[in-house]
Amino acid sequence: MSVSPSQHIVILGATGSIGASALDVISRHADRYSVFALTAHRDAARLAQLCLQYSPCYAVMADKIAAEELRRLLRDAACRTQVLDGAQALCEVAREPEAHTVIAAIVGAAGLEPTLAAVRAGKKVLLANKEALVMAGQLFMDAVDSANACLLPVDSEHNAIFQALPGNYSRMPAAAGVRRILLTASGGPFRATPLAELETVTPEDACAHPVWAMGRKISVDSATMMNKGLEVIEAHWLFGVPARQIEIVIHPQSIVHSMVDYADGSVIAQLGNPDMRIPLAHALAWPERIGSGVSALDFSGIAALSFERPDFARFPCLALAYRALEAGGSAPATLNAANEEAVKAFLDRRLGFRRIGEVIDATLEQAAQCGAACIEAVLEADARARELACIEIDKRSAA
Ligand SMILES: NC(=O)c1ccc[n+]([C@@H]2O[C@H](COP(=O)([O-])OP(=O)(O)OC[C@H]3O[C@@H](n4cnc5c(N)ncnc54)[C@H](OP(=O)(O)O)[C@@H]3O)[C@@H](O)[C@H]2O)c1
Repeated sequence: MSVSPSQHIVILGATGSIGASALDVISRHADRYSVFALTAHRDAARLAQLCLQYSPCYAVMADKIAAEELRRLLRDAACRTQVLDGAQALCEVAREPEAHTVIAAIVGAAGLEPTLAAVRAGKKVLLANKEALVMAGQLFMDAVDSANACLLPVDSEHNAIFQALPGNYSRMPAAAGVRRILLTASGGPFRATPLAELETVTPEDACAHPVWAMGRKISVDSATMMNKGLEVIEAHWLFGVPARQIEIVIHPQSIVHSMVDYADGSVIAQLGNPDMRIPLAHALAWPERIGSGVSALDFSGIAALSFERPDFARFPCLALAYRALEAGGSAPATLNAANEEAVKAFLDRRLGFRRIGEVIDATLEQAAQCGAACIEAVLEADARARELACIEIDKRSAA
């Protein structure tokens, strides 16, 4: 098999959990991939280490003070990586003509503009930053089409669905005989916790995911199951499937990463060990296959694969996400912003775990919903939702 010349990779959010998995896969294939730019928010020490290890042309710190620290660290180590700073510089490296592939692994709304910049520049974009697609789904997919970008899902569920769909699938489920998309969910750390105990769970409890080791925000999203709600919206935009044809299936072992149910009764699933290097390796090399460093699935070691229905009463964030998707326009951006503020308050111990859904619900109720056809409208909805959510958080933290 011929190997294409080294592809230049940009990792937005290189210091995070997805960034680490991506760099692990890239390191195993130095003949194929070279690191062109790495970005972070404030973790200058970690980004300096990565610059010394991978010698990218550019390193971007979104925070300007942290960028000064990074410059000092790299100067002291005689590293020649050029340091840029600020949110605009994230967009600049994402659209750099020399960059071939952009891995979108910033957490939250901060990832929207750089990811959109990469899409608009027609890059191959490996999408982990689901919040970008949730906030601006139509705008984002229109940009993919008009720039002819190659958008590949890295979220393990969406990567599984991508693999289970026909190779020529073009966001038309009926034409491909797709009946349903079945999104699997581990159920998180509180799947079976008595409801009364959820009143007092801590950020440490919520971040102790039974299967996946992830960043703190997505760990809390998994505990509330808002992560699955965001993934329903993400699946809608990626695959053109209406909400009523996207179902959630609880599968605590996280071996089946998602499934496509076809009109003839066939169900095609993708299986693998729960390790994000699998979808990252798949998307990096697509349509080829490369090693990911993940061990082969040992079927004889799997005691059982179980499946159950999600409990919408225990996890109110699921219904909120479906509601926002059905409402359309700016509602998903409102949902996402309110969730980000509520999760931040929970992690800062200003808000109880069960209040997260209440804050999102109240914000969705109050925010005037409008269209989301341009980036300005999306960012305005995001800002307004954050203001409303902060008021709701204050009410509940004072209580
Ligand atoms: N982790 C997983 O297994 C997993 C699986 C599927 C999907 N995802 C999705 O992938 C994304 C990243 O998740 P993660 O778990 O890797 O998160 P994480 O470990 O918290 O890492 C987040 C990254 O984003 C950077 N960042 C944070 N705020 C920023 C800002 N305002 N401006 C610029 N950069 C910023 C961080 O920089 P600093 O380190 O400097 O703060 C870090 O590099 C999320 O959207 C998540 O939903 C993650």
